[in-house]
Amino acid sequence: MALIASDLTCDYAAGTLLASRALEGVSLELDLHELCVVTGPTGSGKTTLLRAIAGLLGPSGGSVTVDDAPVSGPGSRRGVVGLVFQRPEAQFFAPTVEEDCAFGPRNLGRAKADAVRDARDALAGVGLDPLVFGPREPWGLSGGEARRAALAGVLAMRPKYLLLDEPTAGLDAPGRRAVQAALANAREHAGVLVVTHDPDEFIGSADRALVLRQGRSVFSGTTQQLLEEMPGLWERGLIEPPEVVRTLLLTAQRAGRAVGALAFDPARAAEILAASGYSQ
Ligand SMILES: Nc1ncnc2c1ncn2[C@@H]1O[C@H](COP(=O)(O)OP(=O)(O)OP(=O)(O)O)[C@@H](O)[C@H]1O
Ligand SMILES: [Mg+2]
Repeated sequence: MALIASDLTCDYAAGTLLASRALEGVSLELDLHELCVVTGPTGSGKTTLLRAIAGLLGPSGGSVTVDDAPVSGPGSRRGVVGLVFQRPEAQFFAPTVEEDCAFGPRNLGRAKADAVRDARDALAGVGLDPLVFGPREPWGLSGGEARRAALAGVLAMRPKYLLLDEPTAGLDAPGRRAVQAALANAREHAGVLVVTHDPDEFIGSADRALVLRQGRSVFSGTTQQLLEEMPGLWERGLIEPPEVVRTLLLTAQRAGRAVGALAFDPARAAEILAASGYSQ
């Protein structure tokens, strides 16, 4: 039981003169509680992948299944996959935060009292006290609060798989930490797929990674495998390593010898450098 995208190919304006292929032969697997980071340069197909996985864009090839069921059409189940668009706070429409968050569960057919309870639970899960923020106007929230409230609106539907498109873009450091904490909470109930331009942000706590380039996958695997393949991927210009990894690689390059291992975590990196004799 998992979310499985298999050999996915997506085209825009297929069959017209403007036809363009945005994704080709991309596969990934996401289990419950896992975090998968999707990264790649602008235009590499990250948003297209999320839209295809959420069933908003029909692929021209390949398939997406969620717990063995298709994501759209006959046999699909609504609300299993939740997609948080880029800048989701731009889509608030209800007069209060609570009503906005309750809309999704109501739309899935839940009774009003249940939907309100789901909305309040979701607000608490993103670190917003439902008693304080629930009655507020969504447009009066700060940027970081608004982002979290919008995230709560999707979490309130209790999706088993949560997809997010650059959820920390444009936030300051406390805002980014709050979103990261909310996603750590969400993983208790859901598998999380997060698109990010900044691999530093999530890679340390991720289980898997997918790196896209021009619509194709140049890496797909565990974060441990990514660490092992990082020097080669960097050399081939296919990935910009996270800062800690880059520092380790540059230190080794400058000294003309290898470091014992690579790590995403700064404390672990310091240990590796000390053990490799770089502290003398
Ligand atoms: N609606 C559309 N019609 C035509 N082409 C599109 C459409 N949406 C995206 N594309 C094209 O598909 C390719 C992949 O776009 P996509 O938005 O998936 O990239 P991305 O990796 O999310 O980029 P970014 O990091 O800038 O958000 C790009 O070349 C883009 O121009
Ligand atoms: Mg995008």
